[in-house]
Amino acid sequence: MKKILITRRLLRSCEDKAKELFDANFNLNDELYSQKKLIEMSTGCDGILSALTDKLDAETINQLPESVKIISNFAVGFGNIDLEAAKKRGIAVTNTPDVLTDATAEIGVLLILGACRRASEGIEKAREGGWVWSADMLIGKQLTGTRLGILGMGRIGQKIAKIAKSLGMIIHYHNRSKLSEEKEQGATYHDNLNDLMKVSDVLSVCCPASKETINLINKDTLELLPKGAVVTNVARGDIIEDEALIDALERRKVYAVGLDVYKNEPNLNPGYLKHKSAFILPHLGSATKETRTAMANLAIDNMDEFFKTGDCKNKVN
Ligand code: GLV
Repeated sequence: MKKILITRRLLRSCEDKAKELFDANFNLNDELYSQKKLIEMSTGCDGILSALTDKLDAETINQLPESVKIISNFAVGFGNIDLEAAKKRGIAVTNTPDVLTDATAEIGVLLILGACRRASEGIEKAREGGWVWSADMLIGKQLTGTRLGILGMGRIGQKIAKIAKSLGMIIHYHNRSKLSEEKEQGATYHDNLNDLMKVSDVLSVCCPASKETINLINKDTLELLPKGAVVTNVARGDIIEDEALIDALERRKVYAVGLDVYKNEPNLNPGYLKHKSAFILPHLGSATKETRTAMANLAIDNMDEFFKTGDCKNKVN
């Protein structure tokens, strides 16, 4: 039986599945392993089932035991892993696409709604009590007829587009390449980010984090947005330059933000906390029972497929 390290706790049924297939080493207290501890815990392991909280940078990967042949990431994103370093050491890296598309798109839409309709302020007021309905209380931005700019029209972006369209939004997108008409569903393609920014009353960041996308949303690109635009991010914090976005909020260039992901999670830039118009969530994109179960099962299946065949359809390096 192959020996594996599972760096974070999974839902019970998934841990049971892992036990059946592997000699699995569980992190019973669900503590965050330091890089040193993760290397120690991998001793004698054939694979690591990692989470997005594990920083598998080149330095860590280079110190992993020779026996480790696969890192199966329990996430669709893999910005926490240095793919090149893993490749150089002959370690396959896999991810969990598709199964989390719907859940993440739901949160993407929640961010749009929460930011546009001032949900944070509304929740605070409702909890405080003593509020009296009035015609102008917490007036927000209606989505009907508003232009939604989607940065990264992959699976999650497409699903957000579909839901947003049903809410009456007009969809624009920027992607490395134009989608087929069938996938575009009437959305307007922009072959560069600047053009997308100019028409985005609401921006939804949905692209993966990579060397090319880091800080794409910055002082210069934010300036191109229409005044009073809304910025949301369901992808990765690395894509946004926080200081520039907070400054844009302060100047009312940006009306509100809806964020689920941050640089240096969980230590988000405190500038966001000061703003009532920041609708913020703690990285809940895939957090439903169905989705977390499907993701963990896929991460386990990825390892199983790799051990049986030497390859895996969800290999990303
Ligand atoms: C979640 O953020 C994921 O990448 O799966």
